[in-house]
Amino acid sequence: MIVEYLRYRVADGAAFEAAYARAAASLAAALECVDYELARCAEEPAVYILRITWTSAEDHLAGFRRGEHFPAFFAAIRPFVGDIEEMRHYEITDVRGAGGAARADAPPTMYEWAGGTAAFDRLTEDFYARVRKDDVVGPLFAHMDPSHPHYVALWLAEVFGGPTAYTDERGGYPRMLGQHLGKGITEAQRRRWASLLMDAADAVGLPADPEFRAAFAGYIEWGTRIALANSQPGATPPQDAPTPRWGWGVAPPYES
Ligand code: HEM
Repeated sequence: MIVEYLRYRVADGAAFEAAYARAAASLAAALECVDYELARCAEEPAVYILRITWTSAEDHLAGFRRGEHFPAFFAAIRPFVGDIEEMRHYEITDVRGAGGAARADAPPTMYEWAGGTAAFDRLTEDFYARVRKDDVVGPLFAHMDPSHPHYVALWLAEVFGGPTAYTDERGGYPRMLGQHLGKGITEAQRRRWASLLMDAADAVGLPADPEFRAAFAGYIEWGTRIALANSQPGATPPQDAPTPRWGWGVAPPYES
């Protein structure tokens, strides 16, 4: 991607903005244009900065300028071409990102909504008590480490946006993967595992709102299917990958 900056000094700001409002339709339609923004100088209102992000300089100069949307674009802004003080392409550096204001508006993470690590610890304690007694999945966990429920709580906490303790202290994805390899998990066992986890979520009072439960169940459905696939003989999953993150999806938290 590349950013084109244009600096204008115009006599008639209202006409200029109206012209760009018309020209914007061509930018919105052009596949070479990523986004655009016209800003007026607060201290000197005759000065405008136009920022257009293009997929590449070549896409801008060859694709857009010779493409079907350019004639309408240029017709709209032509009267202001003589007002351009600067028109250059800038390469984007690594110094970029969202500021704190974006975070202030962000919805709570699923980790926060659930009640933090303590909530996931309560969940997995209850869950593995059920697992141990279960005739379908119990045998798989016969030699389970007593701290296993806590480790899985740390994993879930991290996945749902909490601290990265499982990655930092336990070995992250490679460790978790290694625990499933060769286990030959069956579909009946996967289904029981997921179902017992939902029973545990109810028993320990994990938030029951539809938005949280839909996203929570979405991850569990996804994760258990991957665990099953990776546990089959001859499976060749990636040996190293980041611990996944799971968010709210299409239904953000409902805050009345
Ligand atoms: C979303 C789905 C799943 C998650 C998040 C998950 C998470 C984990 C984690 C984090 C570990 C390693 C704990 C450690 O650091 O020692 C682990 C181990 C294990 N998992 Fe899973 N797992 C999932 C699905 C399943 C399923 C469906 C089964 C079988 C039905 C299963 C069976 C096991 C077993 C047997 C171990 C080794 C336990 C031991 O002997 O200590 N997992 N799992």
